[in-house]
Amino acid sequence: MSVASDVKQKVDIVDLISESVVLKKAGRNYKGLCPFHQERTPSFVVYPENQTWHCFGACSEGGDAFSFVQKMEGVDFGEALRILARRAGVSLEPQTPEAVQEARDRDRLLELLDHASGYFSEQLQSASGEEARRYLAGRGIAAETAAHFRLGYAPDAWRACLTRMSADGFARHEIIEAGLVVERDDGITYDRFRNRLIIPICDQRGAVVGFGARSLDGSHPKYLNSPQTRVFDKSRLLYGLDKARRSIADSGTAVVVEGYMDVISLHQSGFPNAVASMGTAIGEPHLQALVKAAPRIVLALDADAAGNAATLRGLALASETLEEEGAPTFDGSLLRFERRLAAEIRVAVLPAGMDPDDIVRRDASQWKTLIAEARSLVDYNFEVALAETDLSDAKGKSRLARTLLPILAAVPDPIERTHYVERLARLIQVDAKVVELELSGMRGRPGRTERAASIEVEVVVTTSIGPEEYALGFLLRSPDTAGQVDETLAQAGLEQLCTADFQDAANRSLFESIRAQGAADRLSLRSSLSAPLRQRYDEIQRIWADAPELEDRVLTQDGVTACLRVRERRLRHQLRLLEQAAKEVETQEERKQLETAIGSATRQVLLLSRALAERSSLRVKS
Ligand code: UTP
Ligand code: MN
Repeated sequence: MSVASDVKQKVDIVDLISESVVLKKAGRNYKGLCPFHQERTPSFVVYPENQTWHCFGACSEGGDAFSFVQKMEGVDFGEALRILARRAGVSLEPQTPEAVQEARDRDRLLELLDHASGYFSEQLQSASGEEARRYLAGRGIAAETAAHFRLGYAPDAWRACLTRMSADGFARHEIIEAGLVVERDDGITYDRFRNRLIIPICDQRGAVVGFGARSLDGSHPKYLNSPQTRVFDKSRLLYGLDKARRSIADSGTAVVVEGYMDVISLHQSGFPNAVASMGTAIGEPHLQALVKAAPRIVLALDADAAGNAATLRGLALASETLEEEGAPTFDGSLLRFERRLAAEIRVAVLPAGMDPDDIVRRDASQWKTLIAEARSLVDYNFEVALAETDLSDAKGKSRLARTLLPILAAVPDPIERTHYVERLARLIQVDAKVVELELSGMRGRPGRTERAASIEVEVVVTTSIGPEEYALGFLLRSPDTAGQVDETLAQAGLEQLCTADFQDAANRSLFESIRAQGAADRLSLRSSLSAPLRQRYDEIQRIWADAPELEDRVLTQDGVTACLRVRERRLRHQLRLLEQAAKEVETQEERKQLETAIGSATRQVLLLSRALAERSSLRVKS
């Protein structure tokens, strides 16, 4: 097979073109606005069956995946081949013998898994499969559904699969490597799956890469899965994605559930956009696969998991992944990113004690409603936070604000953010401007990467050391500083130095790490930091490269002053914003609230200035 035809086989033209053209299903084909000329009515058609496209409008041109990329990116055939090969994971380089061998082993493994899947389905239809067939019928799984998902049965025997695969020409070590057979330390081998319903797990293209096997007699574990192999990676695979792909693309929504049987049952009931992660938490690789398929992802969470802190953290991570994924890169895919719809994650919480299979079997319309009414991540966070907060006391209100503010700070769209700011303000009964103010402190300065992209590297290093970095430098260099800062602040009647004092996000995290671990052991502190934070740490340490030798006492004194300045800076910033807000107040109520806030900030600034003045006289004396 030539490289070009290999590539062509691995690229789906509908997927490819959907990245730059909004396609709508039209009978067996897809239709959209031609990307090569201006038009108002769609005359651009994509034919999945023969993997071609044609424009019936002004350009009346057409072709295959290669010619599409050539025209779209303005490149020649060779370059289009290179682009599509990278996309399809096909190497154009001359192959090393090891790579050739690896590809051969992989193909052989896939062949064996496919063959085994055929064997298991055959067993399901045989006399020994009677009980499994009855089990499926009892769960309402139709024979066509079982065939569509290639369900099978592993007989209640120790070496049935091993014997059969060997007879069909596969070597013992291959069968073991595929995870079909377990080899004990003493060399004895036996079938991994016995008396179980077999659920073949396919990759995105529909090739069997492993199996899930459900116990039929209540034996444990309920599900036994293939072990990790060179083709089976649980952290990446989504069960059912091969069968859900088209529906996900057409509906624009992918629904993620937890169980294999949930996927099967949902597809059967007319919801073929469902996929499942395989007993592992949904993570970045899963989402990356899904984002490519749909602009909207609905996570169906069971009621227990839904309020769970770990789930929430996982979801916060998920939205970070998407932001990164959506960021334009400069490798030529800029255009594609620009046109791609931003992805959206929603959460549907299932009624307590029910899984999707239970719901859809009882009432398919209930499932439809649940998914249609799935809430945005921010709404979901509001709901969870509200459920565990008592809004009748001040502590509860403050806790609610502390939980939700970082989430609101992460909402990229200003209109959407304002909506949530107002909602939070109503809940805790303060003016929206006060919430906005807190938020503006959290959103911080432009990100590291933006500054790192500057051409003048030298300048970047020197200018990135501001008052915050300077103060952090002292906290790192002189471990006594932290305690003395808090003492000084307390004496002045002010609250401890805290993360909110730092406006830059990296500085805030760094401050948190110093607080948590102490600065005494700088080496272990440094090694515990993430890469971007470590970079900031190193920049800060560079301040000291040319610093004069200072006595510890003096060092600490200067450090305390630097930290107080950071606080002062925050308060002044806050004051400016408050005063600005005061100019725009509409109601008497708002004015009163703002005046109180301004009064309190002004008082704090005064106390702080006094403390700073005392320190400078101290410094002169010493
Ligand atoms: P569930 O027990 O909720 O799955 O586990 P289910 O598909 O709804 O099960 P039944 O057949 O209706 O009772 C959810 C998923 O967790 C993994 C499987 O991927 C399962 O689909 N799991 C569960 C395991 O891997 N091993 C187990 O022992 C249990
Ligand atoms: Mn179930």
